[in-house]
Amino acid sequence: MSTKLWGGRFQEESASWVNDFGASINFDQLMADEDVEGSLAHVKMLGKTGILPDSDVQQIIVGLEGIQSDLHAGKIEFSTVNEDVHMNIESILTDRIGPVAGKIHTARSRNDQVATDFHLYLKNRLPKIIDEIGMVQSTLVKLAEENVETIMPGYTHLQHAQPISYGHYLMAYYQMLKRDKERFTFNEEHTDMLPLGAAALAGTTFPIDRQFVARELGFSKVYANSLDAVSDRDFALEFLSNASILMMHLSRFCEELSMWVSYEFNYIELSDAFTTGSSIMPQKKNPDMAELIRGKSGRVYGHLMGLLATMKSLPLAYNKDLQEDKEGTFDTIKTILPSLKVLNGMLKSLKVNKDKMHAAVENDFSNATELADYLATKGIPFREAHKIVGELVLKGIQNHQNLQDISLTDYKKINPKIDQQVYEVLKPTIAVERRHSEGGTGFDQVKKQIELAKVELNQ
Ligand code: ARG
Repeated sequence: MSTKLWGGRFQEESASWVNDFGASINFDQLMADEDVEGSLAHVKMLGKTGILPDSDVQQIIVGLEGIQSDLHAGKIEFSTVNEDVHMNIESILTDRIGPVAGKIHTARSRNDQVATDFHLYLKNRLPKIIDEIGMVQSTLVKLAEENVETIMPGYTHLQHAQPISYGHYLMAYYQMLKRDKERFTFNEEHTDMLPLGAAALAGTTFPIDRQFVARELGFSKVYANSLDAVSDRDFALEFLSNASILMMHLSRFCEELSMWVSYEFNYIELSDAFTTGSSIMPQKKNPDMAELIRGKSGRVYGHLMGLLATMKSLPLAYNKDLQEDKEGTFDTIKTILPSLKVLNGMLKSLKVNKDKMHAAVENDFSNATELADYLATKGIPFREAHKIVGELVLKGIQNHQNLQDISLTDYKKINPKIDQQVYEVLKPTIAVERRHSEGGTGFDQVKKQIELAKVELNQ
């Protein structure tokens, strides 16, 4: 007969390399704490409902608590022979307290056990992720506050479009992160749902109390359907999807950081502590950390695609395919937390070359819209004004002359109503400052965003 915990109906042992293939202990041991926590709540419930006598429950609790403290002390050794974290812990419990350990699995299956551990694992980590996002947001707000009046080119199609406030630019990323936080907060709701008590798939004939277990483990609700409870991984997919969107935001930001430290832009400087040198070119200072955050977005997207593909076509209820849900999720947590931390460090030590940013809009045509708007205020239909300015830009490019260099006499030839004021509206700072429309880059609007953000961040 097989020596496995489930070996009763088996006459033949698997080869060790087959066991290794099926084992998950190498990665699911990360959930050991959650597994013990879940077992403690379960056995307490078995006692409370009278399913197990108190004396058994007490022995099991003492055994589990011993394992818990040894786990924290790093004194527990796992083995692939026992396949996964659940059977490893049960087998360690058996070694310590004898056959009574076997009673822990009354009214429970590994199917609802693993789902419970996985929920707990993510549930315990989401607040930290939300927190780290908040810290990046705080840094963005601080930086934005220092740069409300820092003028830079705003781009569309990577072409100079209109001058904007660098503070406004930074607050755009604040808003993206705000939505990320909201998504992870919503993710908490679906993670905060207890699968335990679903047993293998159909519930159990034992008079269990799922609400008690939920309270013990800090879940606010239980899965309403046992088939769904053991086979649902939406909460993990939502997490991976939220993480992918978050990484997409970080990646876009890092792409711009990398671009802007280049010689051609030189808008910002990253501190030495977040850059690296070259082994051959002594002058190099590379934005490696920004590039790595951008690069790591790829693996997170991969984990989302991986789990979606795993889940596709899975018949109800539990299938071993579901064991593939963990590594990508663990790796995603391990990727996004340091990415947020490194980005925050980069932002905190960032130097802004305000003069370089401003210079980029001194000698270009990003004030063309200002002139068209100005002509429109003089009664020229906007479409016509657009055409007039377009022709002036074309001439300007040919004659190496910017719009602010055209003489008032020449402007008056276009329309006699044009006066000296035109040179004011063409100034980049004025162009930005005057954009008072709600949510625009006008200094008053940027300040308003910052004040609201501070309230949101409780600062
Ligand atoms: N290691 C398994 C997993 O991660 C635990 C559940 C196994 N259940 C089963 N019926 N084989 O999904």
